[in-house]
Amino acid sequence: MTNTTEDPTTIRGTDKVRAERCLVIHPHIKGPGTNARDPAARLEEIVGLALAIGVNVVHADIVTLNRIKPSTLMGKGTLASIEAVISGHVPGNRDPNTHGIDIAVFDIALSPIQQRNLERQLNCKVIDRTGLILEIFGDRARTREGRLQVDLAALTYQRSRLVRSWTHLERQRGGAGFMGGPGETQIETDRRQIDKRLTRLRRDLKDVKRTRDLHRKARRRTPYPIVALVGYTNAGKSTLFNRLTNAKVDAQDQLFATLDPTMRGIDLKSGRSLILSDTVGFISDLPHELVTAFHATLEEVTEADIVIHVRDAAHPDTEAQKKDVLKVLATLGLNDNGDKKGKKFIEVLNKIDAVQHDDLDVLKNKAERAGTPVVMVSALTGEGCPVLLNTIDELLALSTSAHTIDVQSTDGATLSWLYDHGEVIERRDDDQGIHVKVRLDEANWARFERR
Ligand code: GTP
Repeated sequence: MTNTTEDPTTIRGTDKVRAERCLVIHPHIKGPGTNARDPAARLEEIVGLALAIGVNVVHADIVTLNRIKPSTLMGKGTLASIEAVISGHVPGNRDPNTHGIDIAVFDIALSPIQQRNLERQLNCKVIDRTGLILEIFGDRARTREGRLQVDLAALTYQRSRLVRSWTHLERQRGGAGFMGGPGETQIETDRRQIDKRLTRLRRDLKDVKRTRDLHRKARRRTPYPIVALVGYTNAGKSTLFNRLTNAKVDAQDQLFATLDPTMRGIDLKSGRSLILSDTVGFISDLPHELVTAFHATLEEVTEADIVIHVRDAAHPDTEAQKKDVLKVLATLGLNDNGDKKGKKFIEVLNKIDAVQHDDLDVLKNKAERAGTPVVMVSALTGEGCPVLLNTIDELLALSTSAHTIDVQSTDGATLSWLYDHGEVIERRDDDQGIHVKVRLDEANWARFERR
């Protein structure tokens, strides 16, 4: 095993360093069809996830495994080398910072047995990829529904482990509670308590969903098209959202900075207005326990008129990330070339400030082959953002058609609504009133008819 940084205490800085000292391991499984992604990028991603819960990552490494051992995941030799790091007995390593690891994070889904054996062997708390993502979701969920969904997922996961005490879930802090004290006590009582809480949670969720549906209906009545930003975690959605709306949402180098959608209005040059919605980041190998919680946060996307897929063009696995995102969108009934309901897609290649020009051309050509409009931007510098806004404007205009409407001279409200939501191409005022020819998109035409 080799350490990935010269100074293991500063793998990546975070202001939120907690007392927990953390070791991060990305198991790279050898064999055809496995680990198609760059292991170094995977390691960086899991370190980012660990940092997102505020632990102090003091050591991060890739271990290559020929096969997975059902009992301990890895063989004795590899395990011994990790043990050596944890106890600080790495030959030649005199760095006191590698002593006293509190948590070992494994970038893989561990079985309950593997987790328990590893904890015993390594003598520290072990968290797998699922547990870590649950922690993050627990920390980040902002709406009541988001929190309930995460609690539900966390409890279901916890129940399947049966090695923890439910009391961790009584939150002292935001997370889902896997970092708490030792478990394995009163398993039966715990299970009953978990079941009781699960029942209560499901009931609460039902109530929350009902009110959410009401909110959604209210929003559908808002006369503006909805444009949703989706994309792999850390692709730069929040940064782009801020750039486009001049708003201040969490945009930080912390994965999953956004868990619940955030919405803001934007006025386009044409005079059209829209609502921009930021959504939670996608991730590969999303723990199955979290799929529902994740989908709940994505319902906004299925409501959107335009879906903008934000990609990190500077990431070595950008193509694989794109596939992951499209796969999830497909499960929501959305394809990148527009779904049955005529939803429109834009693909945004973000972070172009950090990509070589030649590479960009290759990426762009490849992306354009799917027939989706592709826009290259840097959310950081703002480059390309005006082009993106124009593209949105054009797409919204595409589905417009001209209508001739007579408005009474005294009906200022209707007239100003038409000016706000459509493009008035002709106007004639006479004794009978005001006659306007106005281009309206389908959604606005429907809204006008309902008025
Ligand atoms: P999640 O909330 O995890 O889904 O992330 P996100 O997609 O909202 O990403 P966010 O906007 O938080 O950005 C992630 C990181 O990428 C931050 O460190 C940003 O500063 C950085 N970033 C975003 N846009 C750009 C860009 O255009 N260029 C560069 N170089 N970095 C960018």
